Amino acid sequence: MTTPTTATPQQRGTGHQGPRWWQRPWILPLTLFSVAFLVFAVPPYLGLDPAQARLPAPESLAWHYPVLVTHIFGGALLTLLVILQVWPWLRSRYPAMHRWSGRVYVFAGIPLVGVPALLISPVSSSGFSTQVSNTLWAVLWLSFTVLGYAMARRRRFADHRAWMLRSFALLYGIALNRVVIVVMLLVSLPRLEASYGGDEAALTEAIAPASSFLSWVLPLLFVEWWLQYRRPRRRRTGAATS
Ligand code: HEM
Repeated sequence: MTTPTTATPQQRGTGHQGPRWWQRPWILPLTLFSVAFLVFAVPPYLGLDPAQARLPAPESLAWHYPVLVTHIFGGALLTLLVILQVWPWLRSRYPAMHRWSGRVYVFAGIPLVGVPALLISPVSSSGFSTQVSNTLWAVLWLSFTVLGYAMARRRRFADHRAWMLRSFALLYGIALNRVVIVVMLLVSLPRLEASYGGDEAALTEAIAPASSFLSWVLPLLFVEWWLQYRRPRRRRTGAATS
């Protein structure tokens, strides 16, 4: 049994109400990054004016804009919900809120974000490779989210956590996409004249597939690393100290 004098700093800091936000310092940057992304990405769509869209819609597809806007508004909601889901203090202090916001994440996310993403992916104006990347991204997000929910229903909570973290990683792909595009542009710009004859549109077209793939593959790899190498270390520490 662990007495208060033998408790680890981790245990003392955690208490029965869960760790404070400053003991999980990533929650603040994650929140700021999410809000900054939403402030940048969502406003062009608030007026419901297709002319303001950043994404060129295929002209012949009248359904594209309503589906895209549904996806974006749903995506904004889910981006905020993820913060609630991964915030350790809120999760341990208000478990009912974790369960309810989790249900909204799954049951609003699938029809409002995942299915619309799957519909617009194959018609992306950024070319075939981007269409393949986007479609795979949407299929994986839907699969991971359904698996995460199914694991919770079966009370397999370790598996639930792993699949939901993968789902969250893919959800953040769109926000990371902004960072990836800027980095790729900075790397490619010195070759604008030599490789693309000064044609900026050709350069953007060339980096679109790579930036699309990297945007969701990188956060997914990060989560896999986290699950493989961070969790066992914490378990070993816990086993040694309990
Ligand atoms: C669940 C993971 C997600 C997937 C698989 C996904 C997929 C997609 C796809 C395929 C497109 C169209 C890209 C194209 O035609 O080239 C798109 C556009 C867009 N998505 Fe998502 N998305 C996801 C999450 C989100 C989230 C959480 C938001 C938050 C608001 C969001 C906001 C947007 C925006 C704003 C656009 C339009 C592009 C722009 O204005 O720059 N998406 N998404």
